[in-house]
Amino acid sequence: MSMAEKARVAVLISGRGSNMAALIYAARATDCPYKIVLVSGDKPDAPGLALAESEGVRVVRFPSPTVATKTQFFNDLNRVLREASAEYVVLAGFMRIVPDAFVAAWHGRMLNIHPSLLPNYRGLHTHSAALDAGDAHAGCTVHLVTAELDGGPILAQTKVAILPGDTVASLEERVRIAEHQLLPRALAAYVSRERDPE
Ligand code: GRF
Repeated sequence: MSMAEKARVAVLISGRGSNMAALIYAARATDCPYKIVLVSGDKPDAPGLALAESEGVRVVRFPSPTVATKTQFFNDLNRVLREASAEYVVLAGFMRIVPDAFVAAWHGRMLNIHPSLLPNYRGLHTHSAALDAGDAHAGCTVHLVTAELDGGPILAQTKVAILPGDTVASLEERVRIAEHQLLPRALAAYVSRERDPE
């Protein structure tokens, strides 16, 4: 693949943006098959937006949507993504249920990172669920986004051992390390597979 053909990726966040940062830094490798063309989200004060700006990545801020403005927000977001010629959207800690029309508009082009070994523990509080269940492993999953919450086709997973004495905080921290490895790699594999007919 020639470097002129890097896949154009937008990242949506709501908070810290450590997975977004992992993507930005991974994209600096000359052989990385994607570039981050835009970061946006639903929280104008999200620390990750300031980080992306400091790293020279284009950021578009929207006011936090309310029930009344949610449809408009997703329409505006979609327009901004199209104007940036984004080919893929990565949800990296984007804490919003994405409406069906938006999911349909990005069918097969929108990825999410989730902090559990799906199909176990969809939704929130995955680490306490894994600890309460006495699981031997937690982990993280990158999957395609479909209309079913945390239910789309799985692209890649990393298992993370649960240690004696683990707390939600300690487990979350270790799973986060695995997320930072998994997401850039899963995205690279996905965009490369789609671009290479072999
Ligand atoms: C991660 O645990 C991710 O799996 C989940 O939200 C968290 C985002 O963390 N969807 P960060 O903002 O990337 O640090």
